[in-house]
Amino acid sequence: MERLQKIIARSGICSRRKAEELITSGRVTVNNEVITTLGYKASYNDIVTVDGKVIDIMEYKYLVMNKPRFVISSSSDQFKRSTVVSILPEQYRKYRLYPVGRLDYDTKGVLLLTNDGKFFNQLVGPESNVEKEYLVRLNGIISQEELRTIEAGVVIDGYSTKKCKTYFSSADYKNKSCLVGIIITEGKYHQVKRMFGAIGYEVKRLTRIRFGNITADGLKEGEFRDLTPHEIKILLKKQ
Ligand code: URA
Repeated sequence: MERLQKIIARSGICSRRKAEELITSGRVTVNNEVITTLGYKASYNDIVTVDGKVIDIMEYKYLVMNKPRFVISSSSDQFKRSTVVSILPEQYRKYRLYPVGRLDYDTKGVLLLTNDGKFFNQLVGPESNVEKEYLVRLNGIISQEELRTIEAGVVIDGYSTKKCKTYFSSADYKNKSCLVGIIITEGKYHQVKRMFGAIGYEVKRLTRIRFGNITADGLKEGEFRDLTPHEIKILLKKQ
């Protein structure tokens, strides 16, 4: 349940202040009843009209998906390939969800989806310091010294990456590869691949295992769940 003026404003037809005016002047109905009190709370299942026209009201949604590889991180694709939105069940289409940042086509793991622009803006972009943790399968065995170089920042396309954390997870000497973890607070295009590329390592597999306080624990690839109100609060508080 949410205040009627907030629901009206969210539909995009006017500001919250203007919505208050519409309510007090008797131009708003909820389920055929004229509502003139500002404290009135409605739900997203109610039929709300303004000047007799039903308005499109939309509930905010916050999902975490375990993104599979070979799915595009966008709401639609001009070549009709699978996207993180197209793989959601039909009943989610109406929410007009979009991903909070992007994972590459061949990257899997934690991806948030929302239809709340404010939430998106707080978590994406240069101002956001949210930690993103990745497991990286590298071609070759990286040394501790090289990991320290990555942590201090490397130059990718003339830009020096911010300090970050890394850890060595395991080595596969037979296949000459290793698994490392990296925690970054930025989100530049192909950032992790380019950071390791800058010191001569190719990223063979990339998995995001954490976005802020959110993991994909318990979710199979392609599965998703709603974030809890507590998770949303913590996620936004840290920024
Ligand atoms: N860094 C990358 O290189 N790719 C991703 O998908 C995410 C971070």
